[in-house]
Amino acid sequence: MRTIIVNFKNYPEVMGEGAVRLARAVKEVSDDLGVDGVVAPPTPMLALVASTTGAKVYSQAVSGEGGDRTTGAVIPEAVKAAGASGTILNHSEARVPPGTLAKLVPRLAGVGLDVCLCAQTSQEAAELALLGPKYVAIEPPELIGSGVAVSRARPELVERTVSAVRGTGFRGRILCGAGIVTGEDVERAVSLGADGVLAASSVVKARDWESKVRELARSLS
Ligand code: G3P
Repeated sequence: MRTIIVNFKNYPEVMGEGAVRLARAVKEVSDDLGVDGVVAPPTPMLALVASTTGAKVYSQAVSGEGGDRTTGAVIPEAVKAAGASGTILNHSEARVPPGTLAKLVPRLAGVGLDVCLCAQTSQEAAELALLGPKYVAIEPPELIGSGVAVSRARPELVERTVSAVRGTGFRGRILCGAGIVTGEDVERAVSLGADGVLAASSVVKARDWESKVRELARSLS
């Protein structure tokens, strides 16, 4: 099964009820097409989205350090208790030092949360694959939010990442993201060896969420 992770980021469209409606659209389309659909709403909306939509919900990040005596941290245990089943980690907009990642990934597994580790280069992706996440995602930071798809602008990066990550013996899914806007961008990603995509602005900013998600997810079914 192939994957689409929709990262809602903190766009105004997905504050409050918007997060619920977009998550419902992703769930409906992914159920319909038989695709692994994941939503990552703004952190304060995690519990609301998880409890009202039945969607597969991930946190956009978790805090790297600390336990119960922390104030304001988003710790794995709280994400789990909110009803999420995983988290994105080390996104370009929320980088985590390698030493912290090495401790945090086993802690997430202990809590029962899946993880999608993001990388900026193929070499970093291969290193992160060795930590045993469910997903490794390649996202060149300069294309994030650009509307120019990684699968069009940097096809060699996607291919190189797939080969480097598979070369480690990684058995999870390899995703690519940044600038994914059209169904054709997703189709290209799959033809380059990706098992799915991460998308944010093209979905959140779309006039019709359901049809944009359907367009992107179609080539993943
Ligand atoms: O996590 C996905 C994200 O960074 C890609 O953003 O807006 O280029 O789809 P966007």
